[in-house]
Amino acid sequence: MSSQNLATSRPDADRPGDGQMRNRDRQLQKQENSRLLREDIAEKRLVFKSLPEIINLNQTSVCNLRCIMCFQAYTPGTETLPMSRVHAILDDVLPTAHKLKLTTAGEPLIGEFEEILDIADQYECKLDIITNATRLTAARLERMEGMLDHLAISIDSHVEEVLDHIRGEGVHRAIMKNFRELGEFLGDRPRSYLTSFNMVLMTSNVPHLSGFVRFAREAGVDHVRVIRMSYMTQELKEKEDPFHCFAKEELDRHIEDARQEAKRLGLNLILHEVGYKNVISRTERMVSPEPIQSRYCSQMLQEVYIQPNEAIYPCCIPGDLFMGSLKRNRFEEIWNGRAYQRLRKQMFSQELVGPCAKCKLYRAYRDDDAYDYIPGSRTLRGFSRIPDPLKKLADRAREAFFGEKKKKKGKKRKRS
Ligand SMILES: C[S@@+](CC[C@H](N)C(=O)[O-])C[C@H]1O[C@@H](n2cnc3c(N)ncnc32)[C@H](O)[C@@H]1O
Ligand code: SF4
Repeated sequence: MSSQNLATSRPDADRPGDGQMRNRDRQLQKQENSRLLREDIAEKRLVFKSLPEIINLNQTSVCNLRCIMCFQAYTPGTETLPMSRVHAILDDVLPTAHKLKLTTAGEPLIGEFEEILDIADQYECKLDIITNATRLTAARLERMEGMLDHLAISIDSHVEEVLDHIRGEGVHRAIMKNFRELGEFLGDRPRSYLTSFNMVLMTSNVPHLSGFVRFAREAGVDHVRVIRMSYMTQELKEKEDPFHCFAKEELDRHIEDARQEAKRLGLNLILHEVGYKNVISRTERMVSPEPIQSRYCSQMLQEVYIQPNEAIYPCCIPGDLFMGSLKRNRFEEIWNGRAYQRLRKQMFSQELVGPCAKCKLYRAYRDDDAYDYIPGSRTLRGFSRIPDPLKKLADRAREAFFGEKKKKKGKKRKRS
């Protein structure tokens, strides 16, 4: 490990609890880490001087539901990272990180959620969360205010029989009760974070897709992300895979109806994961920190995934990409260990093997379409492609004041 590494050069007095580090210093430490990260990438370093900007903590694989399409219905998760270890690990990785993502294989709102928030708050980290919303109360939302960057709610239908069929009896009632409470709490107060619905496209929810778009618009979310179902059994495929159960024309018609409804209502409908064209009706709030603008995989270079058994992975699809275990090594040793160095070497030479070679997300980064794949990054990378009256106005004003003409289309942007 380099002696210049930010984490190793951090004096112990910088740890929270001693009250010595002021907010500004914390933010400076994060900014310096981000600068170093971009330098590491520009220099194609195999041993990074920086640490990850985004920490994905999968603290628990336990869930309170057994959704029919989820692995929890077959082999329920049982592992939870004890809080003593959560503290030790986050104390190591959060001082330099901008964001904590609670994206778990289980449900992040069960367990020691508030205690984890306290740690993230202490280190002034932003927060992303994907939740089934059964435990999303107004008190919890209030606790997250100021920290939240992206709240993604997994709800596969607004129709009670359909949602309860997919997510379990009583789930619709529980979520709607929470939504009413959240609606009353939010009232007219401005919302500073991105919100979205995640829906797994299934045979039982396809016929209600247009209605779901209306429901999402009324709920005030920024976008609906439609996810392709991976299936664990042949039975699930035969019953719930819409690509298996519907004739192509019929599926196309349902999707097209939903697209038209999204256009009419001005909602962003994200469909590329199921093979259809997205509807981008309006600009979205950008998530932070912004993805690294290069032809490399932003996830591998900028983020890290920590599993409940303390295994470290470079991305959301663990598979074969085991980088090490925090049971045996400290985070910085793994981050610059042999497995990470090998992966970076492959990435920088664009000679990826294994799961990375087949990864759609990586191809999107490489081909500059990542704005389409990363929710909340559209304002950054896809801005010029979004019809936005304000942008047109701004373009005209710029032309009038500075005589600046819009760049001609068709020229490929140079990338680092
Ligand atoms: C595994 S869940 C964990 C977080 C939380 N329990 C939830 O439901 O949001 C993360 C996401 O995976 C989605 N998911 C579950 N089973 C899936 C499957 N078979 N294929 C694709 N996505 C799936 C869920 O709908 C959810 O949006
Ligand atoms: S709530 Fe999330 S983790 Fe739990 S069973 Fe459903 S999809 Fe899986």
